[in-house]
Amino acid sequence: MERGIVELKSIAIDGPAGAGKSTLARQLAKELGFLYIDTGAIYRTVALAVLRAGIAAEDSETVSSLLESLNIRMDYGPDGEQRMFLAGEDVSKAIREHQVSGLASKVSAIPAVRDFLLDFQRRQAREHSVVMDGRDIGTVVLPQADVKIFLTAAPEARARRRLLELQQRGQQADFETVLRDIVQRDDQDEHRAIAPLRRAEDAELLDTTQLNLEQSLQELLRMVKEKIDL
Ligand code: DC
Repeated sequence: MERGIVELKSIAIDGPAGAGKSTLARQLAKELGFLYIDTGAIYRTVALAVLRAGIAAEDSETVSSLLESLNIRMDYGPDGEQRMFLAGEDVSKAIREHQVSGLASKVSAIPAVRDFLLDFQRRQAREHSVVMDGRDIGTVVLPQADVKIFLTAAPEARARRRLLELQQRGQQADFETVLRDIVQRDDQDEHRAIAPLRRAEDAELLDTTQLNLEQSLQELLRMVKEKIDL
């Protein structure tokens, strides 16, 4: 993608919940000087709006009509972190609540929601070199991405990491519940009719079950450098 004399690059990272996508994508973007876009956060913001409006996620018609009046904005804080705003309020923290995770998975299965967010996401890649993570970036949002990676790990490994993350945040949780949530969310994301979670044919697979964060990042960097001149 070309803009002026600067050639913009895009890296798509897809995969299931808890594979380490956001941590790795953020670090990769930092290494490369690209903008990191967490698309899950955008779906989560819509889910929060649905929750606050008291609409059931299954009521796709009412959810769709809410989109017209939705005021969502994305920005970057002084720390370089992506921040999400809903009607002017910074909801970056609120969208991480457990309740919002499950709801985001449901709301993201509604075709009107996906349509609504498609342009929002593509616009970012037209304006910046990006590392974008999500579920359908390589398949739908940026099918022409310069690098496509499908990042995954065994459900148990993902649940262990997620549990640790929750404990570090001082939240109560047990392994079985976290694992069940992860398996349920994978199932929802993989089996929805529109833009399901799947590996694009031309995406490279990176399984991080046996890798720590640093090893995963080095592997990612190696994959990226094979495809683009940096
Ligand atoms: O990556 P995450 O856990 O923050 O994403 C929350 C939900 O949003 C996830 O269960 C599925 C949905 N999602 C999506 O459908 N497409 C994306 N590109 C990103 C997220």
